[in-house]
Amino acid sequence: MIAIGSDHGGINLKNIIKDFLDKKGLSYKDFGTYSAESCDYPDFAKAVCTSVVSGESEKGILVCGTGIGMSMAANKIKGIRAAHVTDTYSARMTKEHNDANVICLGERITGCDLALEIVNAYLEASFQGGRHEGRVKKVMAFEEE
Ligand code: RB5
Repeated sequence: MIAIGSDHGGINLKNIIKDFLDKKGLSYKDFGTYSAESCDYPDFAKAVCTSVVSGESEKGILVCGTGIGMSMAANKIKGIRAAHVTDTYSARMTKEHNDANVICLGERITGCDLALEIVNAYLEASFQGGRHEGRVKKVMAFEEE
């Protein structure tokens, strides 16, 4: 399952991504927000990332105005490797090399069609392991310092 969430600044793109996931037949859980009312992005980053870290969800997608606040918040949560992505190459590489378990997008930055291509590139990519395994482990070891 994919965990998805946004604040008010990302709700339109989140809904477009949900339609895309429906069309692809992929299951997801929407952790909010559910209205255009102003709200705090860290609350939704925490909900989505908690689902990923617990194993309830395999991956997470977070959307805010820029994608930056969501990525900052997500990367504070133990076990999360969140990538703020604005292009398809990075979306693929962050899974292949960094094993990102969350991607963050900005509704006010990235157009809908490109955003869907980014989501698709990320979801279709696989972690390559090998030399990247040790590097990812080194990154995660920072959490223990
Ligand atoms: C909300 O106005 C905006 O600050 C938020 O969506 C996000 O862009 C923060 O990083």
